[in-house]
This record gives sequence, C-alpha cells and structure tokens, in this order.
Amino acid sequence: MDGNGRWATRRFLPRVAGHKQGVEALRRCVRACIDRGVGVLTVFAFSSENWNRPVEEVSGLMELMVGALGREIPKLSADGVQLHFIGERGGLSERIIASLVRAEGLTAHNSKLVFNVCFNYGGRWDIARAAAQLAARGEAPTEANLDRAMALSHVPDPDLFIRTGAEQRLSNFLLWQSAYAELFFSDKLWPEFDEAALDAAIAAYGSRERRFGKTSAQLDGGSRDRQPA
Ligand code: IPE
Ligand code: MG
Repeated sequence: MDGNGRWATRRFLPRVAGHKQGVEALRRCVRACIDRGVGVLTVFAFSSENWNRPVEEVSGLMELMVGALGREIPKLSADGVQLHFIGERGGLSERIIASLVRAEGLTAHNSKLVFNVCFNYGGRWDIARAAAQLAARGEAPTEANLDRAMALSHVPDPDLFIRTGAEQRLSNFLLWQSAYAELFFSDKLWPEFDEAALDAAIAAYGSRERRFGKTSAQLDGGSRDRQPA
C-alpha cells in the first residue's frame, strides 16, 4: 500500500492525513475482496524500515492502527474476517501489542477471509527468523522446513502481488512467498485504489500464463504431448 504521503502532499495536507485516507482505502479493499471471493489478503502496513520516518509520522501510524482496530473489529468479525498480524512484536509498545493480540483473538473463529496485516515486518526478517528457528531446533534448512517456519505458513503462497504508488519494486515484502506470484504495479496512489483498480489487477492476473517452470504445452494437461489412446 504505497502512495499515502504523496496523496496528502498533493492536497497540501500532512502525510498522516494520507495514511488516514489509506485506512479508508484498506477498508474498501477488504470488502471488495470478500465480495469477489478472495480467500486470503495480505497487506504491508508498516515495514521494519518505516521506523526511520519522522517520529510524528511513526506515532501517527501507530495511533491509526490502534484506532482502526478499536473501531473496525466488530464489522470485520461480522463479515467473517480472520485477522493475523505478521511481524516483529519486540519494539512495539505494550498497548499496540495488546490491541493486535485482542483483534486476533476476537476474529480467530472466522473463516471467510484470512486477512494478514504485516506490521513491523520485513521479508528478510521473516527468512532469517525462520532459519534461526530451524537452527535452534536442530532441523535441516530445507525448503519445506523453512516454509513451515515462515510467518505466513498458515496461508498458501500469494497468486497476485499488487504494489500501488507507481513504484516498481518489492521493498522487502513477501520475498520468500512471492517466488511465483504474478506482479502487478498500479499507478494509483493507495488512497485512490478502488474496486475498479482491484478489478484491473485481477483481470491482468487472469490474462497471465502461470507455468511454474513448465512449458506452455505441458499446461493443458499434457494433451498435446499425449498419444491417442
Ligand atoms: C504508505 O505510503 C506506506 C506506509 C508506510 C503506510 P507512503 O507513506 O510510503 O507514501 P509515499 O510513498 O510517501 O507517497
Ligand atoms: Mg512510499
């Protein structure tokens, strides 16, 4: 979710106003995903590197998180959303941690949409943490073991990876999990990312051929290679 700051600056507003609008865009996006039958939504809300921003922006983001959770949980829960917060909890305030844990507990029984909010998260952090866990348990660092130790082991790898804000980079998001994700870069700033923008991303996804290392001919069930019976 990139582009909140630019959205605000273009309107001569403080950056935090852009983040506030970003929360609205996220609310809209969650609803749109439910309406479209998406089973898992994972968003990058705050990166390990975002601590380097001005202190008032960081505290603004933290306040928005606590505020949004306080307000939105009943509605999210009624809509069948199961919340997960993915990221380093050390370094977060007791108050933030308490609100994350509470939100997870209150929505754990839901199953319509698994909604992962990556907060104080980095893709490298996740990989390093998984490797350290395996080492501590004396397990071999195989792909399968690493996969199980990763913070998103409760969901399948993402099919579609959307970045807004006209930047074309991953910025340390889902590095391990996105090995075969289809990438979609939207010129829209995150606060402007609406249903139509989501549908454009899904339509682009639908036109991609996902080969997972195979050839095109292998994908149609091998019918072109098969001998007639
Ligand atoms: C949102 O967009 C990203 C978050 C940290 C929530 P930005 O704040 O990076 O917006 P730009 O890139 O400055 O426009
Ligand atoms: Mg940005």
